[in-house]
Amino acid sequence: MGVEVVVQGLTKSFGGQPVWSDITLSLPAGEISVLLGPSGTGKSVFLKTLVGLLRPDRGDIWIEGRNLPRLSERDLYEVRKLFGVLFQDGALFGSMTIYDNVAFPLREHTRKSESEIRAVVTEKLDMVGLVGAEKKLPGEISGGMRKRAGLARALVLDPQIVLFDEPDSGLDPVRTAYLNQLIIDLNQRTDATFLIVTHDINTARTVPDNIGLIYHGHLAMFGPREMLLSSTEPVVRQFLNAQRIGPIGMAEEKDAEELQAEAEAGVELPPLPPIPVQLQPSNGLRRRAERQPGQWCRDHGVVPPAGSFDGPRPDEQLAAELPRRTRAREGAAG
Ligand SMILES: Nc1ncnc2c1ncn2[C@@H]1O[C@H](COP(=O)(O)OP(=O)(O)OP(=O)(O)O)[C@@H](O)[C@H]1O
Ligand SMILES: [Mg+2]
Repeated sequence: MGVEVVVQGLTKSFGGQPVWSDITLSLPAGEISVLLGPSGTGKSVFLKTLVGLLRPDRGDIWIEGRNLPRLSERDLYEVRKLFGVLFQDGALFGSMTIYDNVAFPLREHTRKSESEIRAVVTEKLDMVGLVGAEKKLPGEISGGMRKRAGLARALVLDPQIVLFDEPDSGLDPVRTAYLNQLIIDLNQRTDATFLIVTHDINTARTVPDNIGLIYHGHLAMFGPREMLLSSTEPVVRQFLNAQRIGPIGMAEEKDAEELQAEAEAGVELPPLPPIPVQLQPSNGLRRRAERQPGQWCRDHGVVPPAGSFDGPRPDEQLAAELPRRTRAREGAAG
């Protein structure tokens, strides 16, 4: 089973400038969570703090009974092995082949022989559809392939917690769809706890079990997907529906004048769009944290937006998906 990550009162600043403060949330074991927020709100800093690359000013990060900010460098090194991280820029070594890049954590952290390493690297490259590209350098493959190579490297130590920093940025919509399916399938197969930072609203609406939103130095909300997708809290509503109307402006926070002008103009918000059904694993099995569509809304007496959960049922999704998967396996380029 994946590992629960409990964050309590986490606060981080650089040179007296706060990035965010008092973040409290739990990433449920084995579930997929998405973290959203305007550019520059500290999402990447949050991921780096979780994995122990940055020390918080205050607060706790509990993983398997250990509190990361309190650990010695040596213990932290051990706990870090639980993590796989896909950094925002891929962070591949430019002078190493794809094979050597993916093999790197195994050579660094394990005593496996080269033939054992070959088996693991081949398995992970196969998983992300990169067999055949082993000998290429990162500069010789497309941006989408680099993302997938970064993902293979993040998975090579069979991590219990996987952090993805914008896995879909710079990808075309079709490759984003493939990557999202890959993420769902990996979660189903590995049981690991996933946290994905993304700016893609469609990803945020269909992939996760939970959603969080950082805004203005605080965690505006964190909870089950349906809670945020049915929320009328102005910041959450504006962000999850990619609207201009609301408290968030170009410079993160709109000034009072702008907001007043909006109020006076009597700008009316469009109704909330329907909540889509979640993306399902392509092997026909259930998601780890399978919940009935609409369950959270029913349990909490919330009426979901009209037309919610009307999409194809998970098994119909699968039927539509299978021919596509076969084609992808036959021509795994790109
Ligand atoms: N090592 C560092 N030293 C000083 N300031 C930093 C450091 N890393 C990040 N920051 C600052 O912290 C803030 C948050 O940065 P971060 O990269 O986490 O934003 P983000 O939410 O990931 O943005 P984006 O969506 O554009 O990737 C920024 O103001 C950034 O300049
Ligand atoms: Mg970032």
